[in-house]
Amino acid sequence: MPLWLDSMAKQLDQHLDRLVDVLVENATVVLSGTKLASQLRVPHSTLWELIERLREMGAEIRGLPGTGYQLVKAPDVLTPRMIRRSLPAGEFGGRIHHHYQVDSTMSEAARLASANAPHGTLVVAEEQTAGRGRFGRTWFSPRGTGLYFTVILRPKLSPAAAPILTLLAGVSVAEAVSELASLPIDIRRPDMRWPDIRWPNDVLIGGKKCAGILVEMTAQPERVEHAQIGIGVNVNQAEIPAELAAEATSLRIEAGRGFSRLEVLVSILKRLEHYYHRLEERGAGAIVGRFGEISSYARGKRVRVTDGQRVIIGETVGLSPEGMLLVRRDDGEVEAVLSGLVRPES
Ligand code: BTN
Repeated sequence: MPLWLDSMAKQLDQHLDRLVDVLVENATVVLSGTKLASQLRVPHSTLWELIERLREMGAEIRGLPGTGYQLVKAPDVLTPRMIRRSLPAGEFGGRIHHHYQVDSTMSEAARLASANAPHGTLVVAEEQTAGRGRFGRTWFSPRGTGLYFTVILRPKLSPAAAPILTLLAGVSVAEAVSELASLPIDIRRPDMRWPDIRWPNDVLIGGKKCAGILVEMTAQPERVEHAQIGIGVNVNQAEIPAELAAEATSLRIEAGRGFSRLEVLVSILKRLEHYYHRLEERGAGAIVGRFGEISSYARGKRVRVTDGQRVIIGETVGLSPEGMLLVRRDDGEVEAVLSGLVRPES
């Protein structure tokens, strides 16, 4: 995108955020168009366009001729101010970049990280036009129902140690989903539905994926310069497109009720920060240990691992200290898997 178009889009996002915040904070009163326009420092014509945009996003805004505007129903958007209010002051979310539409929060975060964005910067989008997953897959990212965000980290890790960040994110998401959807994790009870983590990066409920994690980084030979943890959560989808229905689900489908995307985001961010500090204080073992407790894939699962041309079939027998998946092949040999697509094998 040309630079001028990019900066116009960012300015529009900021105006929309400000308008949402002012409308929400004054929901009980009628706000004059003149006052609103001057608070936002935009001409009346722009204000009108912004109001129309919010209406397209599901906001109900009553326009009272000659009097002003009143919010009837707030749009379900995640303005930085709303996030900040719900998030305890910490490193994660200290800086927030909110987009109504972006190509991918991963790409935007990588751009910001290269321009020195600090550790903990959050990039969150209402919609992604080029959301991506592992192995070059597309991450379907329509507006309104899902959660799409990336956190920039500046970890003191070597590139070889960085895969632990994927497990750290998986643990954070699974715990957040468990608490919010009241689905206690108990890997000894395969008959029950609870949030499971399919090594290394899929969060499942009842065997179907409700969230995915993508970690990308820029590194020197000895040191990670910056890493981006991207998380996509299917939150309020009432239905899953037929072609994905066998593989995917949403929190709403599993819990039988809708969720506040803000609450889901904040709950995950709090845990990400918590586990990140654990990693710094106690090393990878603390994350690997927790992963082993809450992922049915860590031990005793018959799996097929596909990594390019290489296929490993066998039973999982734990994780290495760095978080690699240990698979005992049928010939008895134990392989340490660093990356790959894992599926149950009968
Ligand atoms: C996967 O399961 O393959 C990973 C999916 C990761 C999707 C998230 S959505 C937010 C962030 N932006 C992206 O483009 N991808 C990640």
